[in-house]
Amino acid sequence: MADSNKLIIFDTTLRDGEQSPGASMTKDEKIRIARQLERLKVDVIEAGFAASSPGDFEAIKAIAGIVRDSVVCSLSRANDKDISRAAEALAAAPRKRIHTFIATSPLHMEKKLRMSPDQVFEQAKLAVRFARQFTDDVEFSPEDGSRSDVDFLCRVLEAVIKEGATTINLADTVGYGVPELYGNLLRTLRERIPNSDKAVWSVHCHNDLGMAVANSLAGVMIGGARQVECTINGLGERAGNTALEEIVMAVRTRKDHFKLEVGIDTAQIVPTSKLVSQITGFAVQPNKAVVGANAFAHASGIHQDGILKARDTYEIMRAEDVGWTANKIVLGKLSGRNAFKQRLEELGIALDSETEINAAFARFKELADRKSDIFDEDIMALVSDEQQSHEREHYQFVSLSQHSETGEKPAAKITFAVEGKEVTGEGQGNGPVDAIVNAIETDVKSGAELLLFSVNAITTGTQSQGEVTMRLSRNGRIVNGVGADLDIVVASAKAYLSALNKLYSKTEKLNPQL
Ligand code: KIV
Ligand code: ZN
Repeated sequence: MADSNKLIIFDTTLRDGEQSPGASMTKDEKIRIARQLERLKVDVIEAGFAASSPGDFEAIKAIAGIVRDSVVCSLSRANDKDISRAAEALAAAPRKRIHTFIATSPLHMEKKLRMSPDQVFEQAKLAVRFARQFTDDVEFSPEDGSRSDVDFLCRVLEAVIKEGATTINLADTVGYGVPELYGNLLRTLRERIPNSDKAVWSVHCHNDLGMAVANSLAGVMIGGARQVECTINGLGERAGNTALEEIVMAVRTRKDHFKLEVGIDTAQIVPTSKLVSQITGFAVQPNKAVVGANAFAHASGIHQDGILKARDTYEIMRAEDVGWTANKIVLGKLSGRNAFKQRLEELGIALDSETEINAAFARFKELADRKSDIFDEDIMALVSDEQQSHEREHYQFVSLSQHSETGEKPAAKITFAVEGKEVTGEGQGNGPVDAIVNAIETDVKSGAELLLFSVNAITTGTQSQGEVTMRLSRNGRIVNGVGADLDIVVASAKAYLSALNKLYSKTEKLNPQL
């Protein structure tokens, strides 16, 4: 199996990516991303961890009912209860995978699990045996695998393959791996385990030392892995996971070296990156490979001159091949409902009903009245806004007046609805955004701490909508709220209310690694 030249792309944005503090998503947001991942043609979508919360269970169930082409997967700890929950959530998927894991490093077994190696060995075997009752596609991960004892790994992995595990995923859980060592460990395991050819070998790397992509590729080239686990924009806990876009474009661009095929539709990479960033509120750094705003911008005169003479002097990939389109005006004030609906379809945005399309179209008209050229990014932002207002209706923005003058303390008056009932708050602050937050808090009194406030222009030019992200923390829970508007002060108010809604929704989740 490992000799195949197909590299399986396993996307875990909706599971490991979502574990990033503040990145938690609602069911509808997860569905939107899953649909886009299917358009991107990822082989496997890890949709969540079914036993972690009722919300995650429902999201996986919905995704299993919608996604047709990609395998849909749920994570589960190595116990019958988690596995049954995963199987139940995945029931409707035409192709489903159960991904079960248990820690195998001495440190994790002793300090976290408080289990002996023999107990872990037995539990891993039983878990895979149990999971095979529900599907013949079962993945097993030795958590903290890269810090585990090789002999013990060989013993566990041989046993789980015997029980029917079809994918073995060597987890570099804490990003401790170094390319040569990680690649060699994988190779050693494949060489020493007698039935290793009965499974596909997979890499799963974290980016704590900035080597997740390098480690994954070493696992592929040295170790013979044929599945890479990765996330869009490298989203994930701490420093994140292996970035999907970097793996895919490395393998495509350096096919001469890797000699592997990936089934990804690369033109969907940038739209997927934008969607994930918009939904989670995690902005992409401008110099990020492939999906950063500057990734294809040639500023120096020498480079520009070279590019004009022959593109490949300084360009190893073409921007359009990964889905960058020059800011294109797609719609305007005179565009009708049909043109709007068609553009939604082209962008892969599926709204559930005609009522939702009508509501989004009304927002579009409102925006087109204030802004002459509407870009794809504007449409994506307004749909996000519209969907947020449907999902979490506890606090809803209504209107705002704000006053700033040099030498005076800014003041704001905001009206918002609390479960449909309008309230008005007034406040002053050191700046206009501070004044708005104070005005909202006169009524809400959330006790939340603001951890991050960032403003991004959605498109170019002074007519651009501003997209604001606010990250709040309360009692150890971290959430991100996102809001967009032509007026960045209004966008800030919307972002703050959106974050409060997330705090209010109390979707407590169990972290699989705790
Ligand atoms: O990093 C990790 O160990 C994981 C496993 C659950 C695969 O995400
Ligand atoms: Zn992980």
